[in-house]
Amino acid sequence: MNAWRQLAAVLLADDALLASDMFEAAGAVSVTTSAASDEALFVAHAGEIADGAAALWRRCLVTGLFAADSDLAVLRAELGSRFDTAEITETELPESAWLGGVPALSLAFGGGRLRLEPKSSRTELDQEGAVVFLDAGLAFGSGSHPTTQMCLDYLAEAALEGRRVLDFGCGSGILAVAAARLGARQVMAVDIDPQAWLATKENAHYNGVPESQLVVRSPDEFAAESEPFDVVVANILANPLIALAPVLSAAVARGGRLVLTGILDPQVEAVVAAYPDIPLAEGDRRSADGATWVRLEGRRASA
Ligand SMILES: C[S@@+](CC[C@H](N)C(=O)[O-])C[C@H]1O[C@@H](n2cnc3c(N)ncnc32)[C@H](O)[C@@H]1O
Repeated sequence: MNAWRQLAAVLLADDALLASDMFEAAGAVSVTTSAASDEALFVAHAGEIADGAAALWRRCLVTGLFAADSDLAVLRAELGSRFDTAEITETELPESAWLGGVPALSLAFGGGRLRLEPKSSRTELDQEGAVVFLDAGLAFGSGSHPTTQMCLDYLAEAALEGRRVLDFGCGSGILAVAAARLGARQVMAVDIDPQAWLATKENAHYNGVPESQLVVRSPDEFAAESEPFDVVVANILANPLIALAPVLSAAVARGGRLVLTGILDPQVEAVVAAYPDIPLAEGDRRSADGATWVRLEGRRASA
């Protein structure tokens, strides 16, 4: 059975941003922009845009993912009439093709205190120790990225029993669910992306974590919460972490811990400087695909 319909259009950079808005208006659950060929990139490491949102390739491939029963005739016609250069292809995708390349993982963290397993193995495993059952989905956080893995190692080694944990930028909810399975009393998962709210709720439910233990919030809803957290973990990119510094610093209780990643090695100094109230130091670093990611961690003074 086909689970998704994918529409891809090759466009000049000037048209790509408008086209991407049109994809979203037509109901795309996800829109990505990538290079249409292997021309030199204007985009820095790991997709972080170097010089503002307008930095793109000269010719872009804009790809939208739609529900299988979507009728894309109107969108195709609009794209065709608006952009002279559009090359448009429509493909039907099985669920497995969209998730392809990111297999469900079986990994151990914190010396085996925490395990990540594919959903398919749930019935075969004993339930001793903290286990998170998760498959790759539309929200970031399958467990395959080194930044996620560094956070999971941290959480597995921290004493979380009875603690309040904030996962800011929760994506799939992998960190939030892991914290709950590791015994955190209360976990709050925050993201700007509605797909992440949905994924986190689903993954919490699948892993037997009740709403009384794990709640999902938008950043606006989070702003209304006043009680600080014992552990705050945020795996976002360096620039948002710098912009969010006042929010994340204020969320850490006295004596509480802050864990930040999504930070590339050359960005460490700028992130550390943005958090003067909580001295941050490198806790771990891992390299993948030519980039070195760093995990920063720090503790707010008790008094
Ligand atoms: C790299 S993913 C991390 C997902 C998961 N926590 C993990 O460790 O694998 C970053 C997430 O942060 C979210 N995000 C980005 N900027 C944000 C912001 N300003 N406030 C809240 N969430 C944000 C994104 O939507 C995305 O889901």
